[in-house]
Amino acid sequence: MELKGTGFTLRGWNLNDAASLQKHADNPKISAFLMDRFPYPYTMEKAVEWVNSLQEQHPFVNFAIDVDDQVVGGLGFELKDDVYRKTASIGYWLGEDYWGRGIMTRAVSLGVDYAFSNLDVIRIQAGILSKNPTSMRVLEKAGFIKEAVMRNAVIKNNVIMDEHLYAILK
Ligand SMILES: CC(C)(COP(=O)(O)OP(=O)(O)OC[C@H]1O[C@@H](n2cnc3c(N)ncnc32)[C@H](O)[C@@H]1OP(=O)(O)O)[C@@H](O)C(=O)NCCC(=O)NCCS
Repeated sequence: MELKGTGFTLRGWNLNDAASLQKHADNPKISAFLMDRFPYPYTMEKAVEWVNSLQEQHPFVNFAIDVDDQVVGGLGFELKDDVYRKTASIGYWLGEDYWGRGIMTRAVSLGVDYAFSNLDVIRIQAGILSKNPTSMRVLEKAGFIKEAVMRNAVIKNNVIMDEHLYAILK
């Protein structure tokens, strides 16, 4: 699977991506806004475990963000189940060296187009920590609408925060 964007490619994870994954993911400014399963420090062991776990994807939902043949970030979907089974959530991160170039806005748009064309979903949502206006801006630029603020929904690094719920419909 490969989706060509402007200045980056979304593609599958290769076993030899672990070193560049570890290098770009190992940053507390990134983990601060993600689920605790994206740790800091981000060890080589964790990187190997991640790429190993993604060698077979059915359906294909987890992309590496490739710039100049190096993995510099990730973008993925989680498919919900039961009555939420037509909804996916989206998550993403980018290595700090690449921030501020519009890469993630374009990557989210490309990923959303892929999801609506290839996954059986009609809604994509994202929960953004209140201290992350950059990510809210990315979603707004990619066409998401803020639907709700879930008060005190999250505890991250021992700080309780609101979560802002964004969504885009097919
Ligand atoms: C959030 C993240 C993915 C953004 O990637 P990026 O490629 O730098 O984003 P873009 O360049 O496409 O867009 C960033 C936008 O946020 C804006 N921005 C930056 N800092 C901001 C701030 N403090 N407040 C408001 N907007 C801000 C930029 O100006 C830009 O908007 P513009 O094009 O209108 O000027 C990246 O910073 C990251 O990986 N952060 C850590 C992990 C994370 O937060 N993941 C998302 C979890 S929901």
